[in-house]
Amino acid sequence: MRCAMEQPVQNAIRNRRSIREFTGQPVSRKVLHTIVQAGIWAPSGLNNQPWRFILVRDRDVREKLAPHTTYSHIILGAPALIVVLLDREAMYSEVKDHQAAGACIQNMLLAAEELGLGAVWLGQILQNSDKVNALLSLDETFELMAVLALGYPLHRNQKSQRKPLADFILQEIGGDQE
Ligand SMILES: Cc1cc2nc3c(=O)[nH]c(=O)nc-3n(C[C@H](O)[C@H](O)[C@H](O)COP(=O)(O)O)c2cc1C
Repeated sequence: MRCAMEQPVQNAIRNRRSIREFTGQPVSRKVLHTIVQAGIWAPSGLNNQPWRFILVRDRDVREKLAPHTTYSHIILGAPALIVVLLDREAMYSEVKDHQAAGACIQNMLLAAEELGLGAVWLGQILQNSDKVNALLSLDETFELMAVLALGYPLHRNQKSQRKPLADFILQEIGGDQE
């Protein structure tokens, strides 16, 4: 077993928190592309890579997106957004393509953590996905999966809890106790 310092993935998983307040520091195009690159290396069924992205740093577009979620203050305060979509023409399975989108999003959250950024997965905005599509000139070929709000964290005071592992493991079948 490698020591904690040598476990960057484990560290990113455990240290990542949903960050909802950001400094004014802009996020560069290069950093955004590094994060999206991590996203596209997620697994997908048949390796069909059904995800598509819109990268938004424009203040005017963020102001137009903000009213479509109850989390408008997060959208307004975040210097960058990654709008995550599924291309329905690239899909082959309703369930499996949505699972792939989740894997892609988590990869991006972990990459943001590693790069010293903070991010939050915004899902509430899906209630207005038709309006988001219209605003971004997207037809129904593109299905909104999430908006990630990103920036440099104002603070890292965020706490989060998980229930004990035993609450989730229904059965252990076979193997030893190690
Ligand atoms: C599918 C999904 C939708 C979410 N939607 C929102 C949202 O609309 N607004 C928000 O502030 N956080 C949202 N979150 C973030 C969760 O609130 C957060 O992950 C959870 O409270 C655990 O906190 P942690 O990420 O800091 O561990 C969402 C997370 C997921 C996975």
